Amino acid sequence: MLKHQEIIDRLTLAQKAALMSGRTTWETVDFEEEGVPSIFLSDGPHGIRKQEGAGDHLGLNASVPATCFPTAATLANSWDQDLLEEVGSALGAEANKLGVNVVLGPGLNIKRNPMCGRNFEYYSEDPYQAGKMAAAMIRGIQSQGVAACPKHFAANSQELKRMSSDSVVDERTFREIYTTGFEIAVKEGQAKSIMTAYNKINGIYANEDRHLLRDILRDEWGFDGFVVSDWGGSNNHVLGVENGSHLEMPSTGTVGQRELIDAVASGRLNEAELNERVDEFLDVILELAEADKVTVDMEAQHRLAQKAARESIVLLKNEDNILPLSPKTKVALVGEFASEPRYQGAGSSLINPSKLDKTIDIIKDYDLDVLGVAKGYERTDMANQVLVSEAVELSKKADVTLLYLGLDEISESEGLDRHHISLPTNQLTLLDELSKVTDKIIVVLSAGSVVDLNWDVKVKGLVHGYLSGQAGAGAMLDVLTGLYNPSGKLSETYPLAISDVPSSLDYPAQGDYSLYREGLYVGYRYFETAQTPVKYPYGYGLSYTNFAYSDLVILENGVRFTLTNTGNCAGSEVAQLYIGAGASNLYRARKELKGFAKVYLEAGESQQVFIGFDDKTFRYYNTLTRRFEVEAGVYDIMLGSSVSDIRLTGQMAQEGTTENIPELDLPSYYTASVLNVPDEEFARLLGRSVPKENWIKGQKLRINDALSQMAFAKSGLARLVARILRRLLARAEKNGKPDLNLLFLYNMPFRALAKMTGGNIDMAMVEGILTIVNGHFWRGLSQTFKAFRQKRKADRALVAKKV
Ligand code: BGC
Repeated sequence: MLKHQEIIDRLTLAQKAALMSGRTTWETVDFEEEGVPSIFLSDGPHGIRKQEGAGDHLGLNASVPATCFPTAATLANSWDQDLLEEVGSALGAEANKLGVNVVLGPGLNIKRNPMCGRNFEYYSEDPYQAGKMAAAMIRGIQSQGVAACPKHFAANSQELKRMSSDSVVDERTFREIYTTGFEIAVKEGQAKSIMTAYNKINGIYANEDRHLLRDILRDEWGFDGFVVSDWGGSNNHVLGVENGSHLEMPSTGTVGQRELIDAVASGRLNEAELNERVDEFLDVILELAEADKVTVDMEAQHRLAQKAARESIVLLKNEDNILPLSPKTKVALVGEFASEPRYQGAGSSLINPSKLDKTIDIIKDYDLDVLGVAKGYERTDMANQVLVSEAVELSKKADVTLLYLGLDEISESEGLDRHHISLPTNQLTLLDELSKVTDKIIVVLSAGSVVDLNWDVKVKGLVHGYLSGQAGAGAMLDVLTGLYNPSGKLSETYPLAISDVPSSLDYPAQGDYSLYREGLYVGYRYFETAQTPVKYPYGYGLSYTNFAYSDLVILENGVRFTLTNTGNCAGSEVAQLYIGAGASNLYRARKELKGFAKVYLEAGESQQVFIGFDDKTFRYYNTLTRRFEVEAGVYDIMLGSSVSDIRLTGQMAQEGTTENIPELDLPSYYTASVLNVPDEEFARLLGRSVPKENWIKGQKLRINDALSQMAFAKSGLARLVARILRRLLARAEKNGKPDLNLLFLYNMPFRALAKMTGGNIDMAMVEGILTIVNGHFWRGLSQTFKAFRQKRKADRALVAKKV
């Protein structure tokens, strides 16, 4: 007996099928008489992007003003679960007020490579931290009667060809690195919905992966919410529904509905399976539709955005204690970002902020003597000697130059991976010139993902604000002037060179397959094990005070130690617990984060801190028994101020399994030499052969090839379309503003024509279009036209049935 059997009995097959696709870009279908409400879904992770009027997915139509909080990459640096819950709750309240039932976030994909265009939207390179941050955010959002929707489940690590790329990853890495964060988010956050990733995982689209959506998500983790495809990410809707996905978004008109009706009629889909999906879906939406309305104080939201930004700022360098600035310091304010802040990313998370603080406007409220303001560089990377000279002249007169640098909007965006991690050249030139006239430069950095920081030898101070939201300017000034003692720590490693990162050799993967050859060695797991030096390690961040660690006691259920603030001002420390399994039979990272605590201490104060163990502390995924196990042995217990600044160590014996430990011939992995693992060895890790690229330029295009691949199509017309697309993209790049709809098109596979056109095109028509693209214009045209007529007939028949 299903939970909502009564309602389901009242629904026709056509109605049940209709429920599994959206009604518009953001809404689901409703059947009022039968008691089925519609719900509204909106982005996104750090602010509500509710479009006014007709929704157009990536935002040509303006969205309603909303509070733009710091992005996920920023908030993670606070390492403060209470803060994330508070921000989540504020987001949930705004969603509730705007009539949004599902907030499409948080995003918690693992930062496999620093060049992923969406890293600014994700928390960390570490699954434990990402999961804890996400769970807190989800609890907050859901406390306001709306659902959170953690995304993109799973192994979604690049933007290039994001809707068709196949993430080839071994099972142990998949479970330990790419799904553990989601597990924590689901179990500890009790998420009511989840969004599947666009990509395939080992050959199967995430949205059709029964093992992922039923075995792992529902049966193992106890998820009882609904699964929604990413927008346009439903490949085969019937397979999606059959394997555990509930909702394809956005609307596909009657296309998705008819596909399900036909599948049931022909016996390809069991109606009982469809009923089960409808039941699970109803369970959530009935509850959401009943939520009480809340009121929101937008000024208080803005203040919370400032607090969140402040607690997430990371002080990376403070030579000669140049910070905090003393009262009345003569300051030169240099850099475009001081007047036009870079405070959020680009793409589906783009918020229309309710208000925007700018350094140039609010610096007067701080006790500083601002001698002047110089733009210093153009936002787009264009050389401008006049701007540089003005900045140099201003800096000569000042005690300190506050230099605002960072990445511009086009450098990091959904739909676009970076090709390098450098700052724009014109900014580096400016820094060079300034460093010739002053040795008192403090760089204030705005960027949502890792940048090369080797130039920091030229500066005395370096403060990283990440993408700090609409109130970030004040948060930064609070830290610079010492009103707030910085307490943020990095949630990702800053390498010395991008080539040091194991996945960089083939990133982003250009072909069909993205090979996760580095296995478990993501982020600090690699650097610490291979002992490769980095610029700034994971977990690193300075304070205006100092902390001492002492008296480690290892207990059965956790560790206890004493933390003392040994400096002369109050501050917070993020103490981190790492575990190592030195004598393991498996290949393992030297250190793995398994707990952390953010502790506030007055100057001179000491406190006993306890960090508990949990089911993740000692576990690993056993590919032979296909479950998480603890390997018997002695484990290193390490407490540190960052991953490479371990202050207290001890050891602890653990009981566990001694048999059935997978032992494979994996020398590169045992020695962490994974910059370029050979195929044969990666194949042994995968347990199957490494897939060979099966598309070569000039070959026939297939339904899941990206539109960008038309550059190599047989048809001259298709090549022309690809050229126009590329030209338009280049123009957007030159203007410094990413065109998201274009980027979406560029990476979109042909099949998505049937998923993103509101039902005007169906799969049979896409096949016809493909025939044209592959050089058979007339045949393709007649095929498309025939399919169009059939579709029209089928649509009319459905309308006649009044569904
Ligand atoms: C993004 C999602 C987003 C959705 C709706 C997709 O392109 O990948 O993160 O929630 O659009 O805007």
